[in-house]
This record gives sequence, C-alpha cells and structure tokens, in this order.
Amino acid sequence: MKTIIEPFRIKMVEPLRLTTREEREEILRAAGFNLFNIPARDVLIDLLTDSGTGAMSSLQWAGMMQGDESYAGAESFYRFYERVRELTGFEYVLPTHQGRASERILFELLGGRGKVVPNNTHFDTTRANVEHSGAEAVDLPIPEAHSPEVWHPFKGNMDVDRLEALIREVGAQRVPLCMVTVTNNAGGGQPVSLENLRAVRSVCDRYGIPLFLDACRFAENAYFIKLREPGQRDRSVREIVREMFDLADGATISAKKDGLVNIGGMLLLRDRELAERAGSLLILTEGFVTYGGLAGRDLEAMAQGLEEVIQEDYLAYRVRSVEYLGEKLSALGYRTIQPPGGHAVFVDAGALCPHIPPAQFPGQALVCALYRHAGIRALEVGSVFHGDGRAAPWEMVRLAIPRRVYTQSHIDYVVEAFAELYPQRFSFRGLRMVNRPQMLRHFTARFEEL
Ligand code: F0G
Repeated sequence: MKTIIEPFRIKMVEPLRLTTREEREEILRAAGFNLFNIPARDVLIDLLTDSGTGAMSSLQWAGMMQGDESYAGAESFYRFYERVRELTGFEYVLPTHQGRASERILFELLGGRGKVVPNNTHFDTTRANVEHSGAEAVDLPIPEAHSPEVWHPFKGNMDVDRLEALIREVGAQRVPLCMVTVTNNAGGGQPVSLENLRAVRSVCDRYGIPLFLDACRFAENAYFIKLREPGQRDRSVREIVREMFDLADGATISAKKDGLVNIGGMLLLRDRELAERAGSLLILTEGFVTYGGLAGRDLEAMAQGLEEVIQEDYLAYRVRSVEYLGEKLSALGYRTIQPPGGHAVFVDAGALCPHIPPAQFPGQALVCALYRHAGIRALEVGSVFHGDGRAAPWEMVRLAIPRRVYTQSHIDYVVEAFAELYPQRFSFRGLRMVNRPQMLRHFTARFEEL
C-alpha cells in the first residue's frame, strides 16, 4: 500500500469556524497585521506552532483521571519517572512546566558572564536563557544548513571542526557545556545523526566538557536516523532514542512537542550534585521536585505520551505528512528548506517576493496573505522574528504541523491556498512596523501595509 494513513481514528471532534474574506480582512487590520494578536477562534488551520497544540490519545485522557495530586511523592510522579528513566537512562528527572523552565534552571547553574555555550542552533528561548545568565550563545551548524535548497540527510548536524576551534580559541574552562538541538528547529526541523553526536561527544570528552541535548523532538530525530543513517534501518526507534540519550550528560525537553502533551517539560541529569542544585532552583520557582509546576494528571499524560511517540506507525505518519506538504509546495514552485523537517515546512518568502526588501518583511507579507486568503495561520521566521539587531539569516515562513490534529484533507486545503497564492505573489505588500518593541518583538509588533 502506498498511502500512509493517519494511524488513529477520531472519537472527539472540535468544530472549526469558517470566516469570510471580508471578516478576515477586518480581523487582520484589528490585529495590526500580527497573527499572534488574532483570536484562535478566527483561525481555520493553525500552523503557528507544533508546541502544545497536539491531540492526546484516549489512553492519555484515561491516565489523567488517575492523576495523583499529592504534593510530594505522588504516584503519578513515580510512573512518569520510571517511564523517562527507562526511555532515556537518566537517573535524575526533574519535571518542569515547559522547556524554557528547564533551560532557565540549567543556565542559572552552568551559565554566567564570560562563559560560551555552543549549540548547532539555539532555539530563541535557549539563546535568551543563555544570554540572560550573562553567557554567550554560539551557533555552529554545518555549512549546508545555510543553503535552503541543498539536500543533506542530517542538515541539523553540528560543525565539529568549528566546535573544536571555538573551544581552543576561548579555552575549555569557559565552555561549561555543549548543546545539540534535536531536531534543529531554527535550522528547519532538521535531524542530527548518531555519527555527528558521537563526534561531538568525543570532542567534548577531549576537553572535559559535558554534552547536553535540547531534545524536544527526540523521537522525530530518531526516526530520521532509522530512515537515513547507514546501518540503522533494522534497529528500533526505542534503541536509537536510547543511544542518543546515552551520548549525553543531560537534556532539556519541552514535552509539548514529542511528549505529546499540551503542557510539560523536564530537565534530565546524570550528575547528583548538579541535580541537587537544580532541584533547589526548581523548588524556588516551579514547585517541589516531584511535580515541578505540573499537576499529577499532567505527569500521567506525559508518561503515556512518551510511550506513544516512539511507536513507528505514528512516526511514519508524522514524518510523511510533513514531507507530503513539502513536496506539494515544491511542485508548485515554492522554494522551501530541503528536505522538509520533522515538524514543519519552511517556505522561503524572500525568494517568493523579491519585490519586498527584508526591511519590509516579505515573510510577514506571506503570513498575512495566507490568513487573508484562506484563514491559515503561520509563523514568520525572518526579519521580524530575528529583528533584535542581529541580521536575519533568511526570510522564511514556518508551517508547523500540530501532532495528530489535522487530516490529509486539511493539508490539501493548505496546498490549494498556496497554489492560488503563487500567481498573486507580486501583489503581496510589504509592511512597516509602527511600534518598536524592545524584546521578542514578533509577539507584540504592530504593522501597517505599504
Ligand atoms: N527548544 C526548542 C528546540 C524548541 O523548539 C522550543 C519551543 C523550546 C526549546 C522551548 O520549549 O516552548 O516548552 O518552553 N519551541 C516552540 C516552537 C515554542 O514554536 O518552535 P517551551
């Protein structure tokens, strides 16, 4: 059989609300042409993020009814702990409310002025937490990562030579840890190979530097390893996941992605002394070490989600449905980051709209066109997103696919919208930012169409 079907059926539905083009025009204007300001009820297909937007299974919902809400030592914590330990091998498992809470604790402990933290590419909250601690965040992706059209099976890999050069240049004592983000979200949702992780590990070992994973999308990464890395095809995703984690000294995870939950995260550690200090910081702002800012029921949902996400029929559907969207958009003539990532397709709005200079935000123009035309919400990842003084590496629009939420006909609708927009691309208008937010401006910026 050629068709990879959604490996689930639907027993609870949530209606979508159709709007007219005139209504959307009005909504877009009221939102200052910033899609973050649009109420979700006015969005038809929401591809803003794959984070916390997935659907839970019947077993996850059933698990929630068993949530033990004891303050300390809840049964739900122990179930969650055993599942995480079995999956990842980490002895110290700190639950947090989401990924960035784990990052805040980790960099408060290991960051600080004068320190330098390498990563294949920092996600924006990771970079913000590194910099908030006073440290410097350095991105070291392989050169292929900069070229959208170049096909590379592991375009998320870290440039190992540049890593070693950086360590020699600044001195190992200034590098408190090295991070690798799997999959590399900011670089297009691209995977990192086991071979690359082993090479990074060996550089870290040579200089006595701990290696941490930002493992939000660990299962998608492991599945790409199974599909694309020589010698991995006959291994189970579970084994590959375990090998990825075995190569690391710790991990930060947002369970809102491959935990298949709407809220939750964790910080995983091997070092007892570090785990004790992290536990104290967890108590300071998140909650006691056996719940970390979550309800017992959330821990149950995560424990079950972590089991479902490594099921290979799920991963085959997941990776294929993103690839399907990517293939269709390429066939229409859109330039996208190749190959499609595990969670998202990135469309090059700069290439699509050469008549709109970066200062007039071609990505935002495409995002507005998608909403106006079809009620689709996407994320600009270009000069609005990166616009805090650093030059944007490119003018992309990310179409992130929530997990287990949309069917193939929803995706076909998105493809149709792109097909209709392609011949109209030269009518897209650039935008002018009318306020100048100091930080994280993509959330609060307001625009006028030129
Ligand atoms: N690391 C990566 C690679 C991420 O993609 C995210 C979140 C985080 C860390 C932070 O996790 O949101 O739970 O605090 N990414 C979302 C996105 C927001 O849309 O890509 P969080």
